[in-house]
Parts: sequence; C-alpha cells; structure tokens
Amino acid sequence: MLLRKFLFYIHLGLVFHVVICFKDTTEVPRFEDSLNNLTVSLGREAVFTCVVNDLGSYRVAWLRVDTQTILTIATHVITKNHRIAVNHSDRRVWFLHIHDVRQSDRGWYMCQLNTDPMKSQTAYLDVVVPPDILDYPTSSDQVAREGANVTLRCAAHGVPTPIVVWRKEAGDLLPTSNFSDTHNSSVSGAVLQLTKVSRLHMGAYLCIASNGVPPSVSKRVMLVVHFPPIMTIQNQLVGAKESDTVHLDCHSEAFPRSINYWTINDQIISQSDKRFEISAIERGYEVDMRLTIKKVGRTTFGTYSCISKNSLGDTDGTIKLYSLSGKFEEMQYNEVGDFEDASDVSELEALKRSGATRLHKTILFLAIYFVS
Ligand SMILES: *[C@@H]1O[C@H](CO)[C@@H](O)[C@H](O)[C@H]1NC(C)=O
Ligand SMILES: *[C@@H]1O[C@H](CO)[C@@H](O)[C@H](O)[C@H]1NC(C)=O
Ligand SMILES: *[C@@H]1O[C@H](CO)[C@@H](O)[C@H](O)[C@H]1NC(C)=O
Ligand SMILES: *[C@@H]1O[C@H](CO)[C@@H](O)[C@H](O)[C@H]1NC(C)=O
Ligand SMILES: *[C@@H]1O[C@H](CO)[C@@H](O)[C@H](O)[C@H]1NC(C)=O
Repeated sequence: MLLRKFLFYIHLGLVFHVVICFKDTTEVPRFEDSLNNLTVSLGREAVFTCVVNDLGSYRVAWLRVDTQTILTIATHVITKNHRIAVNHSDRRVWFLHIHDVRQSDRGWYMCQLNTDPMKSQTAYLDVVVPPDILDYPTSSDQVAREGANVTLRCAAHGVPTPIVVWRKEAGDLLPTSNFSDTHNSSVSGAVLQLTKVSRLHMGAYLCIASNGVPPSVSKRVMLVVHFPPIMTIQNQLVGAKESDTVHLDCHSEAFPRSINYWTINDQIISQSDKRFEISAIERGYEVDMRLTIKKVGRTTFGTYSCISKNSLGDTDGTIKLYSLSGKFEEMQYNEVGDFEDASDVSELEALKRSGATRLHKTILFLAIYFVS
C-alpha cells in the first residue's frame, strides 16, 4: 500500500502539519496563486483549486482546518467522508471536490505541501442556503370582519438570513400602522399589521423572502373581509314613455356574496317574468344589478327595489319609474293616488293644477325634475 511508504504525523494546534517523508529532491515547489474562497449553495459541489509549480516528488494534501482532519494526500482520500474526492491535472492543478455540500462543511480548508518547513494555503468555504418559508408560523388565509385588526406573519429562514417583504398581489398596500406610504407597493418586515381592515384590504398578500441565493420564495395569504351589503343607486327616478325599453341599475357591495333580487311594488320579480330581464355582473365583492324592462307599459310603472342580503345583513334601494308622456293614471305609486283622473294632461300640468300643498315630497321632486 502506497500510504505505508509515508510516515505522517499530525501536529494538532493552531496551525497543524502533515509531514510526509519523501525522497530527496532539488526542486522547490511553490504555489502559483492564493487559494480562492468559495461560496456554494447547499447540496451543490464545492471545488477548491490549488495550483503548485515544480511539485517534483512532493505531495499535496488537503486538510479541514476547523476539525483538524486530513482529507486527502496526493490522490488518496483519507477521510471516511464519501462526499470528498481529489483529482489533479498534470500534478500541477489540484482539485478538492466536496459533493452535496452541507452546512457542516462550512469552514476553512488547507492545501498543504510536505516541504520542510511545510507550505500551505487556506481558504474559506461558505455554504449558503436559499430562503424557505416555514408553513406553521406563517399566517394562513384569514377571514376578518370589517373594522378588525389583522396581523399577517411570515417566518422565513435561510443563510444568510432572508429579507422579508409583504406585497399585495394586485395594487398597492394600504396604509398600516407600520407603514404610511400609500404609493409603496411593499413593506419590509416579517409582520404586516393591518389596522381596521376595510373591504379594500381584501385580496391576496404575498410574503416574499430573499437572501441573494436563488430562488427567492413567496407565500400567498388570502385576506377575506366580511361586511354587510350596501347599495348605491345613480338614478332613483327614471322617466319613460310607453313601449320604451328601460334599464334600472343598482350597485351592491357585500361579502360574503349577497343574494340579490328585485321587487316591483313590493312583489318579488321572478326570473321567469316575461316583462323583465334580470342580470348581474359580479366583480369581487361588487355587483352591478340591472333590471331591464323590455317594454314599458301600464303594469311596469311604479316603485322598484333592488335588494341585497348576506349573512351579516340586508339592504335595499328604491327606484321609481314614472311616465314621461303617458296617462297619469298609469303611475301606480301611492303618492299620486290622490289625483283625480287627468288622462289627457301632462304630468307637469297636472302637478301645477293640483297645487303644491297637496303634493307629496316625491312629486315635488318630480316636478323639479321636469322643469329643469
Ligand atoms: C477569504 O475570506 C476571508 C474571510 O472570510 C478573508 O479574510 C480573506 O481575505 C478571503 N480571501 C480571499 C482570497 O478572498
Ligand atoms: C478534475 O476536476 C475538475 C473540476 O471539476 C475538472 O474540471 C477536471 O476535468 C477533473 N480532472 C480530471 C483529470 O478528472
Ligand atoms: C386595532 O388597533 C388600533 C391601533 O393599534 C387600536 O386602537 C384598536 O383598539 C384595535 N382594535 C381592535 C378591535 O383590536
Ligand atoms: C410593525 O408592527 C409590528 C407588530 O405590531 C411590530 O412588532 C413592529 O415593531 C412594527 N414595526 C415598525 C417599524 O413600526
Ligand atoms: C418602499 O418600501 C421598501 C421597503 O420598505 C423600500 O425599500 C423602498 O425604498 C420603498 N420605495 C419607495 C418608492 O418608497
């Protein structure tokens, strides 16, 4: 066995020493460059390169400084660590291979020549670990009532310690207690504190961890905000002539999603009612409700309501459909019930004639609407 030819001993100390008995020689080996430090990702291969000129019959050994271990001597692997290998090119360029790098491999390595005194070079192997987001301590999807405080947490690890930022998947973050710049799309830190959440906070949040070691990782946390329905209506008074097609529009916001429907004079309008067409366009927690009156006629004037209900409450809005030209009696809402038959006069004339004192507020409003 080749190794038996060598008597080697190790001097354990701050600097330690492998001395291998060798044949006399006149050449003096020397290092060409200094050994390069390495930074390697967990699981990859680290290769140190030691370039020696005029090695002659001397030997190159690789050592682990921190653990005071001889790894290789010449082409022989001494350590029992199977992840270590050595090769060379023309006995001049010597490579120490560390396969499947682990965190425990981090440390100082030495390329040593068995000259007397020995010559050596050292370099540092840094092992970096890409970021990882820990599932358990990181927030999972959240459901909150409007007005509540919500804290989103993100637990990431890696080497070096990752930097964590929170972003909203779509749009900017809203101001928080930690954070007041509405135009900034991200906030750094593992904790995102949202005070008094509103429906505008609803959506997907991304916690992104990066430490310069690819790949960066992110986790998506959904924030769902519950609130009772609210209704907004642009036009609460709609005038139409007989045979017109008319659209009545309501805008509802609710979460959980509301059940939405229409009534005419307090009667629920069914989907199968041929006089109407009911449609709704949903965008997140918003719904554009539309009731189309296909052909305005005697039975379609009156008071309409759009109604939204969810588990937290309900709301409605009212739209009045009145006749622009038709017979006054066709206006079926209560406020005009008092009028005598005025079949051939316009509403405005009827209003003038009947005198303002008798008029309900709504009618007064109608009149103003007509005059303007
Ligand atoms: C290697 O890293 C150490 C510290 O980590 C540093 O002191 C030294 O200068 C580095 N050597 C080279 C060649 O960059
Ligand atoms: C030794 O390892 C280096 C680095 O991986 C490689 O480039 C080279 O081809 C290898 N040489 C031999 C002789 O296997
Ligand atoms: C939410 O946080 C604000 C500010 O930190 C605090 O004043 C308020 O009492 C909190 N509200 C609830 C419901 O915890
Ligand atoms: C942000 O809020 C968290 C939780 O309340 C707190 O621990 C942290 O110190 C705050 N950071 C800043 C910069 O205010
Ligand atoms: C936004 O916030 C991040 C993290 O807090 C910060 O690094 C960045 O400079 C800010 N950008 C702007 C435009 O303010």
